[in-house]
Amino acid sequence: MTEIDQASKIREIIEAYPADQRFALAAMQDMQHAFNYIPEEGLSALATYLGCAEAQLYSMATFYKALSLTPKGEHIVKICNGTACHLRGAMNLATELKRNLGIDPGQTTEDGEFSVELVNCLGSCALAPVMVVDGTYHNKLRVEQIPGIIDSYASAAKEVTAND
Ligand code: FES
Repeated sequence: MTEIDQASKIREIIEAYPADQRFALAAMQDMQHAFNYIPEEGLSALATYLGCAEAQLYSMATFYKALSLTPKGEHIVKICNGTACHLRGAMNLATELKRNLGIDPGQTTEDGEFSVELVNCLGSCALAPVMVVDGTYHNKLRVEQIPGIIDSYASAAKEVTAND
């Protein structure tokens, strides 16, 4: 997306809402959805539109886990590190992901394809350890399954590109 496209998308998102601070979160969620993060330009344009301090929006963006101020990968890999998953080897999954993708939790691959996050209980403790990729649960996961799962998402991205 070019800078001009991004600026016009930001404007479109913001102007879809009344200039009322009650809609700040909704507009930020839309930006997150459109760009996979909230660009700095988006935050400042929204602050101007709503007539509020940018710092106020910044606080909201850092408070809500679903929002990010840094670009995230095309695919979001969440490793549950809640108690049950931790006890059943969640950190071994993180180590295998690092071996496979070259990144630690909290980081994004250089090609922008994957982000890895360590999260709290995902509500499937009986099926621990759990990893979620783009909303799909991979339960009772074994370390040796990770390369195949990651490959399947990487290949899907390549196929879409090849068919463009
Ligand atoms: S601790 Fe991982 S799903 Fe509950």
